[in-house]
Amino acid sequence: MTASDGTGQDWPASGAAVLLAAFDNYRSGFAALTARAKHHFEHQDWAAAQQDAARRLDVYSESMSEGMRELAARLGPRAEDRAAWNAMRAEFAAAIAGRGDAELAETYFNSCARRTFQTVGVDPDVEFVAIRVSEPEGRIAPTLVDLFPREGRLDALMRTLLERLPFEVRWDDLEGDARRAAAAIVEQADVRRIRAVELGRPVYFRGKAAYVLGRLLTDGAAMPLLLALRNPSGRLVLDAVLITEDEVSIVFSFARSYFLVEHQRPRELVEYLRAIMPRKPLSEIYTAIGHHRHGKTELYRSLLRHLATSDDRFEVAPGQRGMVMCVFTLPGFDVVFKVIRDRFDPPKTVTHEQVREKYRLVFRHDRAGRLVDAQQFEHLEFDRDRFAPELLEMLLRLAGETVRVEGGRVVLRHLYTERRLRPLDLYLREAGLAEARDAVLDYGQVLRDLAATNLFPGDMLLKNFGVSRHGRLIFYDYDELAPLDECRFRELPLSSGDEDDLAGEPWYYVGERDIFPEEFRTFLGLRGELLEAFLAHHEELFGVAFWHSMQEVHRRGEVLDIHPYRASRRLRRGAADPDAATGPVPS
Ligand SMILES: Nc1ncnc2c1ncn2[C@@H]1O[C@H](COP(=O)(O)OP(=O)(O)OP(=O)(O)O)[C@@H](O)[C@H]1O
Ligand SMILES: [Mg+2]
Repeated sequence: MTASDGTGQDWPASGAAVLLAAFDNYRSGFAALTARAKHHFEHQDWAAAQQDAARRLDVYSESMSEGMRELAARLGPRAEDRAAWNAMRAEFAAAIAGRGDAELAETYFNSCARRTFQTVGVDPDVEFVAIRVSEPEGRIAPTLVDLFPREGRLDALMRTLLERLPFEVRWDDLEGDARRAAAAIVEQADVRRIRAVELGRPVYFRGKAAYVLGRLLTDGAAMPLLLALRNPSGRLVLDAVLITEDEVSIVFSFARSYFLVEHQRPRELVEYLRAIMPRKPLSEIYTAIGHHRHGKTELYRSLLRHLATSDDRFEVAPGQRGMVMCVFTLPGFDVVFKVIRDRFDPPKTVTHEQVREKYRLVFRHDRAGRLVDAQQFEHLEFDRDRFAPELLEMLLRLAGETVRVEGGRVVLRHLYTERRLRPLDLYLREAGLAEARDAVLDYGQVLRDLAATNLFPGDMLLKNFGVSRHGRLIFYDYDELAPLDECRFRELPLSSGDEDDLAGEPWYYVGERDIFPEEFRTFLGLRGELLEAFLAHHEELFGVAFWHSMQEVHRRGEVLDIHPYRASRRLRRGAADPDAATGPVPS
């Protein structure tokens, strides 16, 4: 049966076709920008690579706006009619059946419906609601990988495989890199058991690096294999070989920007990544390859599954209460939920809009492995009895403009989700000396890595950094984050007498962007061995010279490197290295 509008036109099919065309526009815009990453890498055009990566984030929303305009023109008032959307969904579902990116298409349709109806919670009449559980099935598509059986020496195998990589740039030292790669594998694994190498075909580009991911196959088992490639001087260099799940997982971290990786069937790529990193949530894998909207869908579905299969209640997150954010979590679910408070405690002077602007900045900026990725949700709704009473009381008191109770439901107009980390202030109280020392050294490295991407965290207190399950330090408090080149790093003026020292307020003028690195020592509140360890590695962070030199680098427009692996994993340690700008990462 077709619904006709009297003109003989089948309008649900026509509306669905408009939305499908918008989705196809999004897919081709996304693919075109993704495909350019290879060229940028080969031509060392790092500025263009950054621009395209940022532009790709806009394609989704732009294509939607265009599609919705077209829909309104085609359907008139029906474009805002729920019955019409219900009929369009059926047509849309039929049209995408069998496509390799059907899950993205469903999310896209939902985005359009939610924008149209400002839906609170989920509207099962006009959205695709997951019927099937979307956990991967563990099948690996044969078109996704090449198999290299081992016949003799491992370095010969590595040479064959490196030579086959699809780059137009010449190798700087193919023989040497093959030898070093084999040696690195031997150092880390039992080499006698390696029977073959399975290499994934897609290349993952991000920043100034390219990665190829595959597996080392032994008898009945498999180990990850990640090749990190660089192009520092117009010639291809193998920079590192990683073979543990943890190290590969860190490269694909939620604290890094999204990869540019060509693929037609996201699901297949996700399945492969999941086979190599089984502990990484599905949502984060989709997000890591650039499908952050669908990543949100998967996150939301896993949240609903968790609520359905547990008695967990939302609770206030461990750690110090925020002056800007109300933060809560579910004990058995690795995510925090952050709602912006109605009013901020002094001395915070930022506005709501500025806070959101900071989160947008982080979304678009190189996150350098040090800024947690945040997903923005609107109009979420949960059962009231899933909230611990003291949490609900706090949300209504401090964020009543965003959170309301309607009958038995709690409605949250806006929030961010982030991976839950262990706040550093709590971590340092629990950790042994060795762990605490590593954390404190990595804290210094966070400041360096952020500086390398032209960012200054602003609020550097320990409570604003978290520790990941890999023991990495990650920053999550964005309301005072600022571009480094807009900050003014100053030396504390010498005081002129005792009275000045007694005054509570500084007697010298402090501008809004004035920063006194000497004061970091007091902020950190480190003592004894931890302070000594910090000074041994990072004392220069307490002086202005380091910060001024980083500002100079950014004023020259240089794009610095940040290696998402330990310095000791780099294959050409000791060789002249034009990229080694950010110093060693403590291992
Ligand atoms: N990703 C996270 N994982 C774990 N805990 C978190 C996370 N984000 C925030 N928290 C907890 O919530 C608290 C407040 O969060 P956040 O620092 O983002 O808010 P804020 O209001 O800007 O803080 P401040 O008062 O320092 O400005 C943190 O001190 C920490 O204890
Ligand atoms: Mg904070």
